[in-house]
Amino acid sequence: MANEWWKTAVIYHIYPRSFQDSNGDGIGDLQGIISKLDYVKKLGVDAIWLSPVYKSPNVDYGYDVSDHRAISEDYGTMTDMEELIFEANQRGLKVILDIVYNHTSDQHRWFLDAKKSKTSRFRDFYHWRPGTPDGPPSDWMSTYNTSAWEFDEKTGEYYLHMNSRRQVDLNWENPNVIHEVKEMMIFWIRKGVSGFRIDQLGHINKKKSLPSYEQYADKEADPHFEIIKDEGAHPYVHHLNEAVFSKYSMMTVGESGSATPEEALLYTDPARREVNMVFSFDHLQIEEGDSESDVKVNVVQLKKVMEKWQKTLEEKGWNTLFWCNHDEPRIVTRFGDEGEHCAASAKMLAATLHMMKGTPYIYQGEEIGMTNADFEGIEEFRDSKSITEFHQRHYEQNEEKESVLADLNKRSRDQARTPMQWDDGKNAGFTEGEPWIKVNNNYLSVNVQQNLDDPESVFWFYHKLIHIRKTEPVVTEGTFDLMAPDHPSVFAYTRTGGGEVLLVISHFGKKPVSFAVDREQISGLSGHLLLSNYTVEDDASALEKPFELRPYETRIYLFKETEKER
Ligand code: NOJ
Repeated sequence: MANEWWKTAVIYHIYPRSFQDSNGDGIGDLQGIISKLDYVKKLGVDAIWLSPVYKSPNVDYGYDVSDHRAISEDYGTMTDMEELIFEANQRGLKVILDIVYNHTSDQHRWFLDAKKSKTSRFRDFYHWRPGTPDGPPSDWMSTYNTSAWEFDEKTGEYYLHMNSRRQVDLNWENPNVIHEVKEMMIFWIRKGVSGFRIDQLGHINKKKSLPSYEQYADKEADPHFEIIKDEGAHPYVHHLNEAVFSKYSMMTVGESGSATPEEALLYTDPARREVNMVFSFDHLQIEEGDSESDVKVNVVQLKKVMEKWQKTLEEKGWNTLFWCNHDEPRIVTRFGDEGEHCAASAKMLAATLHMMKGTPYIYQGEEIGMTNADFEGIEEFRDSKSITEFHQRHYEQNEEKESVLADLNKRSRDQARTPMQWDDGKNAGFTEGEPWIKVNNNYLSVNVQQNLDDPESVFWFYHKLIHIRKTEPVVTEGTFDLMAPDHPSVFAYTRTGGGEVLLVISHFGKKPVSFAVDREQISGLSGHLLLSNYTVEDDASALEKPFELRPYETRIYLFKETEKER
């Protein structure tokens, strides 16, 4: 039987560039990560996932790989990597690597060779097409909002890049590409890694006939995703499972921006033997109010989306649970409160997510309540996508600088990439040198040291949530049932299984609210409070009357059959 360790695991996501610098060059590195493994272990997680640390020109900070089997000089050496795997394993932490298999850097030796001539043996590693009288082979657009085709002067053809023009899409119809990817995966498994996060999992299959975007114009679908739809990727992913994943006790999680819950079920149904779980972003695409509104996100929509994912993958398949990663602005800023209720809202968001069914991922800094930073000008941004957007909107379309900057400050990927805030010393303890990206000004009050010293901190709240997951099987296995789907600020649900009912009640707003629990799901049971972010009288009879919920209050109750009232 497969070892499904990942079903009870909690995974900590590290963005190496911004985690901890060990040599004063202003860039986080592998020795920096090693020096913080004890901290990560203290949180109670089971594994670390590293965003890419391979050799790369860093146009997209590692998601443009130029050598899959070498470590970027920015981060250290292969010996450092081996030491990191060893030191993590010594502490009972597994290591998960990011696999970027949809594209390579334009500096990868395969592409450098492919560009030399149409007869290069690597030519078919990529997608090449002649142009049309209008220019590029089709109207496909990249995620950078430019044509997805780049003209190559020397060979007179266009190559395909669905991301930046420096990230060239691999041709998965070429068996040699698949062979190379498998060998590369095995290389890392032999080094001791225990799993892969697969970048753009479902984007490897491109529609051959180059359908025009216009054909999708009147549908709700995003044309970008329509042409790289996941459906064609399944046979490839299944093949990788047969040839690699199933041979080792490892976990796989694929990023799939376009997957619907139904698509995710196809990927994660164990009978289909593809991957263990996927990251989808539906729950992060919910309408948001302005920063002044009491409830910053449309809670009714959020509940609907999360319920759909929980329910669709309840019997077969498996969910990922995450609020943050290196591409998403900080969740406290988005759905919570950066001010007075910063810690309370960070805890509330954590409890809401961590008690659901699936594998939780914690992105560095989330566990101490890190928020978005305030970038003052475009020169402070480092993300190529944000910088491209600024140029397009401000210089090409003459949009006011302030309005573009305001948007970027809201949702730029750099918001997640500011350095980890370790303490209130120089550069928040991240580096002795000049940080590659600015440190958030709030590091004096939001930092690891202050969190560790305060038993009521966000860090220790996460620690308790992880402990609950480890000790209460209902959190891993129980069925999910939403309560009060139409309530505009309260997100309440139960998890039921093994004679237990876990009840989670979270208030997403600042204004106090009264909330009456629907007692049907807990009728005849009695229980107690497991965790809350405010002082609450631990009296289950409190459920008899409506709760008076304070700003961003969250409560977790556990009911057991053994405590049934007779
Ligand atoms: C998704 C990654 O998370 C993102 O950072 C990257 O830019 C794209 N894939 C392209 O590799």
